[in-house]
Amino acid sequence: MSEQKHNSGPHPDNKDSLEHAAMQDEQMQEVHAQLMREKEEPEEGFSPVPIFLMFLFATLCFWGGVYLVHYSANFRWDAYSPYFDPNADKPVPVEITLFARGEKIFRNNCAVCHQGTGVGVPGVYPPIAGSDWVTEHPQVLARVLINGLNGPIEVMGGKYNGNMPAFGPTGLNLSDKDLAGVMTYIRQEWGNSAPDMTVAMVESYKALYASRSSPWNYPAVKADLDPIPEPAVEAPAEAAPEGSEATEAEAEAETAAQGARSDELPVIAAAH
Ligand code: HEC
Repeated sequence: MSEQKHNSGPHPDNKDSLEHAAMQDEQMQEVHAQLMREKEEPEEGFSPVPIFLMFLFATLCFWGGVYLVHYSANFRWDAYSPYFDPNADKPVPVEITLFARGEKIFRNNCAVCHQGTGVGVPGVYPPIAGSDWVTEHPQVLARVLINGLNGPIEVMGGKYNGNMPAFGPTGLNLSDKDLAGVMTYIRQEWGNSAPDMTVAMVESYKALYASRSSPWNYPAVKADLDPIPEPAVEAPAEAAPEGSEATEAEAEAETAAQGARSDELPVIAAAH
């Protein structure tokens, strides 16, 4: 402190500098007095943020959120690449066969009664495996599935008298594809061997029986049958153009997707 006094201010031995300093002090006091007069009265508390600024910030945050949602492209690393394809990650839809579709339908809708092995439950649920109801005339099978079946029947020497629910529009309403699938499946699983039940066949049988609201009985269910549509001739002629077209388009889409992944992306990755 004392040292500071020594260092600052005029030297006490120097008269000139003392006078000079005195004048300076006077001036300074004047300026200070002036400043004190003009100073605002101090207040307590703090000044709030102006309300329009709050609104401005809120609007900015909201706009920022909207902008991110719209333009972030899910924060994908390759979003700014010139070859960006937003669908590259999505799996190419694969058309499953009628048999594979039918297997699922059977597990979900039929196995509870006819059992996963298709042997049924003796005296209660008739067997599907080895049953001529399944493999012989597609129209019988279509009638049973579209409208249901009840009353006494005989399957593979066993007698049954139960209720088979309808899976057509008046019942559980499976789609044409699902019906064709499940019928194809049970005609070809567990050693059963009969031609496919095509979607076209299901459509034509549905046109006949969709409006029927009561289940079939034996022997009506096996009477008045139309000739069996020639599946060996009809199926390839009808299914082939559709099927091959679809698989070709799929194969193309898949190779395109693979190309995008294997050829282009590494280049971009290298550029990064
Ligand atoms: C609630 C139990 C139940 C469900 C579910 C069920 N069935 Fe049946 N099914 C029966 C009964 C009972 C009969 C025999 C009806 C009778 O006695 O008249 C039968 C008969 C049949 C027959 C003719 C007889 C035979 O064994 O060949 C076929 C074919 C058949 N069902 C297929 C199916 C298919 C396919 C599904 C699934 C889409 C299915 N069932 C779902 C109970 C069921």
